[in-house]
Amino acid sequence: MALLFSRLQRNILKDPGRLPADLTTLKFGQSFAPHMLVCDWSRSKGWSDPQITPLQKFQIHPASSCFHYGVECFEGLKAFRGPKGEVRLFRPDKNVERLKTSMARLELPFDFEGKELERLMSALVAVDREFVPRGDGYSLYIRPTVIGTHEALGVSPSDSCKLFVISSPVGPYYPTGFKPVSLLAEKTAVRAWPGGTGAYKLGANYAIALGPQTEAQRKGFSQVLWLFGPDDQVTEAGTMNLVVVFGDAKSGEVKEIVTPPLSDGMILPGVTRDSALELCRQWYGSGKVSERRCTMKEVLNASKEGQLLEAFGLGTAAVISPVQRINYEGKDIHVPLLVDGKMGPVAKRVWEAITSIQYGRTPSPWSVVCE
Ligand SMILES: Cc1ncc(COP(=O)(O)O)c(C=O)c1O
Repeated sequence: MALLFSRLQRNILKDPGRLPADLTTLKFGQSFAPHMLVCDWSRSKGWSDPQITPLQKFQIHPASSCFHYGVECFEGLKAFRGPKGEVRLFRPDKNVERLKTSMARLELPFDFEGKELERLMSALVAVDREFVPRGDGYSLYIRPTVIGTHEALGVSPSDSCKLFVISSPVGPYYPTGFKPVSLLAEKTAVRAWPGGTGAYKLGANYAIALGPQTEAQRKGFSQVLWLFGPDDQVTEAGTMNLVVVFGDAKSGEVKEIVTPPLSDGMILPGVTRDSALELCRQWYGSGKVSERRCTMKEVLNASKEGQLLEAFGLGTAAVISPVQRINYEGKDIHVPLLVDGKMGPVAKRVWEAITSIQYGRTPSPWSVVCE
């Protein structure tokens, strides 16, 4: 059986509870909306009828492939309240498309119609719409996940898997205004490499990042700047895509907006990255926006010559994380923060444009109202 929205079954709570009165108590990923979406697949039967059920624990066989061989991938997107109280998803098609590529990498059944999963996610959010908080910076974080449930030891493609979607009401990433991040350029551990899995959203990529991330935090940095190769190419910042802006730090003239290319297979194709690139191409002209390799040497030289204008991370959680300092080989590279000492003008423009679309203040096909 195919994965079909038309087969959706609903088991809805009579009293689903409500959001806390004081929304500032919401901690990222720690409280959950009361319902979940679940659908099982097996090689012999295909997809079961999708179900919206109360959030509950699973019983899974201890031999399941997710426990032993890391057969797990996931997504992260958000639902926002628009001006009329409507609930909007930001580019959900991109997340479904990326989930399918992650599933393909894990030999999971990726050949379903993306629209069906989009409609199922939308239906789940509609059921839990009271858990999409109102207010600037607030949203419902949605976590589609697929795990291998193949009940046998031995490395082989999973004969079964479970797709589920849970969600978590969240507050602003920076509740007291932007807090620029400091990065520790990692010279030893590598997050991803050509031909590896960096371009897919697999749980395994995050598990191997925990050690270096913890070490960077112990040393007082917010995130790791992941490098690659003997020439120390910059790749990603923690769990964000990275953008470096070159120009004239005195006049503020933007000469080039650079982000590492997807072609090497090391970079997660971020939805925020894609959106920011498209906007920057409109604003600054495509000649000034480059998807190309960029090394630490180039960043360091630009900084020395007053040509390093901005650096920032891009991702669903915060949209923009301005970078103020990169520690490379024991020395700090300082990045100017030209707008109120908090971020650069390119970062600010991207942040305002994307959040305005997400909250439905600027009409855009990227913002999809939940039915
Ligand atoms: C490694 C990594 N890079 C980049 C991103 C940003 O992607 P997106 O903008 O789709 O959230 C994420 C977050 O999902 C990530 O985990």
